[in-house]
Amino acid sequence: MTSNAGPTECYVYITLPGETEFVTAGRFALSADRRAAPLGRFVYGRRYLERPEAVPIDPVELKLGKGTYQTTVLKGVFGALRDAAPDYWGRRVIEKHAGKPQLGELDYLLYSPDDRAGALGFGLNQTPPAPRREFNQTLQLEKLQALADAIVADEELPEGAEAGQVEDLMLIGTSMGGARPKAVVEDEEGLWVAKFNRPDDRWNYARVEHAMLVIARTCGMQTAESKVVSVADRDALLVKRFDREKVNNGYLRARMVSGLTLLRAEDTHQARDKWSYVLLAEEVRRVCAEPRKDAPELFRRMCFNALISNTDDHPRNHAIIAKDREWKLSPAYDLIPTTPVSIERRDLALTCGDMGRYAHADNLLSQGVRFLVEREQAEAIVSEMEKRVKNTWYEIARAEGVSEKDCEQISGAFAYPGFRLENPDSGPTGETKGEMAQHRVARD
Ligand SMILES: Nc1ncnc2c1ncn2[C@@H]1O[C@H](COP(=O)(O)OP(=O)(O)OP(=O)(O)O)[C@@H](O)[C@H]1O
Ligand SMILES: [Mg+2]
Repeated sequence: MTSNAGPTECYVYITLPGETEFVTAGRFALSADRRAAPLGRFVYGRRYLERPEAVPIDPVELKLGKGTYQTTVLKGVFGALRDAAPDYWGRRVIEKHAGKPQLGELDYLLYSPDDRAGALGFGLNQTPPAPRREFNQTLQLEKLQALADAIVADEELPEGAEAGQVEDLMLIGTSMGGARPKAVVEDEEGLWVAKFNRPDDRWNYARVEHAMLVIARTCGMQTAESKVVSVADRDALLVKRFDREKVNNGYLRARMVSGLTLLRAEDTHQARDKWSYVLLAEEVRRVCAEPRKDAPELFRRMCFNALISNTDDHPRNHAIIAKDREWKLSPAYDLIPTTPVSIERRDLALTCGDMGRYAHADNLLSQGVRFLVEREQAEAIVSEMEKRVKNTWYEIARAEGVSEKDCEQISGAFAYPGFRLENPDSGPTGETKGEMAQHRVARD
């Protein structure tokens, strides 16, 4: 099964609802022919299908059933499996550990420790490993932050007591997704994602992200729980894992799939024709047990992102989870303000309505009914959230410890003028009058 080029097949494990240990769900294979486009194949195990308590890995592609599923999307890795793999940050850590610049998709899945998002695990043995009993503790954050700094700076790892250090490195939370430096840590309450500030950050991300989660809650959204802790005189953000629940004999795990998987989309910006809140709302309505709750909640998240200029709201920053059999929208996470130069038009990462990705009130309202909110109600939600963000962001940010200087830096993010620009009149490509005029000037 293994060759010099690395493994091409693995077993997929799952922690069933109410359980704390893995069982084997099926087998995943990725074509080894490097000349052809990668083809992924997945088949559920016969014994898994015989279990009365068996659940599908995701609600989109891999429905419970015999037969082989195939895909060429996302380099042949089914969305739900890809969602359990590391992204930029974890991949860097793994590459550093392996001493290689790039590895195969399966390597990234197999190398990651047992702290990945969701309920899946991967391995080369048919019998799954026992769950990991020990996680890094919040007390170890200082060491983890130093390791994260070394990776950000791309420093060589120190020689000597290397084995232990390299092991630590691998266990700092490589399997969680995302690009920012992070680690998974445990305290008496359970597991947290620790997100570290980078030396080159323009503001204190930990405090600002925490403040955004607080503001989002005052806007009526469901968000992940978070707190800021001090680590060696720096701030780090701890976000409580909503896909894990501590119980007497370990951790219950929720299945989790990203918006990208729900949309059956590719993850490059070039292939983002399917990146759409409107389409995501329809998937949420189809898949989630309480569409009347979750679709309007998604509407609020779209509006909130527009109101804080969170232009990095890509489909992996949305997810659905299933603690039992039923799926629901996950709490909101990774809410980051940005300050693009344009005050006339800012685009979210996903299409919001008839004017494309334009973060404009009329655009958000244009497809409100598809989020199961009637026009009047949608207008009330948008105005209420706008008022709150505009009037309270500063007060809340300061109360949550964002410095005066950082508040100045981020002030341009909130309820920017373009949100209510009159006569936005977008062209076929979603250009506003202003932008079209600018282009004309440039072309002339
Ligand atoms: N509280 C949480 N509980 C469970 N999983 C989470 C939680 N927060 C984040 N995740 C998962 O971890 C991934 C990375 O987290 P997050 O998006 O906050 O990191 P990031 O590095 O800022 O991401 P990006 O690359 O989008 O900037 C998410 O895509 C999601 O799958
Ligand atoms: Mg993210």
